[in-house]
Amino acid sequence: MKEIILNHPMIEHKISILRSEKTSTKEFRELISEIATILCLEALKDAPLKEIVVKTPITETKGYVIDENNYAFVPILRAGLGMVDGVLTLMPNAKIGHIGLYRNEETLEPVEYYCKLPKHIEDKTVIVLDPMLATGGSGSAAISMLKKRGVKHIKFLCVIAAPSGIQKIQEDHEDVEIFVAKLDSHLNESGYIVPGLGDAGDRIFGTK
Ligand code: PRP
Ligand code: URA
Repeated sequence: MKEIILNHPMIEHKISILRSEKTSTKEFRELISEIATILCLEALKDAPLKEIVVKTPITETKGYVIDENNYAFVPILRAGLGMVDGVLTLMPNAKIGHIGLYRNEETLEPVEYYCKLPKHIEDKTVIVLDPMLATGGSGSAAISMLKKRGVKHIKFLCVIAAPSGIQKIQEDHEDVEIFVAKLDSHLNESGYIVPGLGDAGDRIFGTK
């Protein structure tokens, strides 16, 4: 499955402000949320539509709706939480699960600490949210946790990805579509994306 990289002047604009070390926590959070909305719009391009009849003030016509019950959003804690408001502006009735993972700072391996998913998750298309895809360890582990619980249709949304992260997800989970707002160059020796934006969780929650 190919990754989809958003190519849009508005994304360039928003990502450039997001990267700046001068951007405040408030503005950072708002930008992550706005980019998440744009990513989600792209990810829903293939959403099945159900035909309905709509009565306008003028006449009756055909309309088309998406069944929000077929979708769940799953942010990877912590930083994925910053994307939830943005995707909910499009699908306010979708259910939300949570997966808790953090990277061991030395080994960069993901450590699982939480998983709470909506009922009947196996029947839904699950849209995983995490602003950063670096080694791909956390993203791949989250997808494995979902598959272990029977989920068959998964999409992954991230704001900034390194090539290594995309490669890892594609090798481990070739069926998962990855939507990326911006593809960056590489990882530094500490596993941070270059040029990147630093630690997304810390910048969203103001913890450093
Ligand atoms: C960040 C980010 C991803 C992960 C990406 O989370 O939100 O989950 O790193 O790195 P990877 O692709 O190399 O696994 P972090 O581990 O810093 O946890 P936090 O969100 O709780 O700060
Ligand atoms: N996690 C982050 O928050 N930032 C990076 O650059 C890499 C992983």
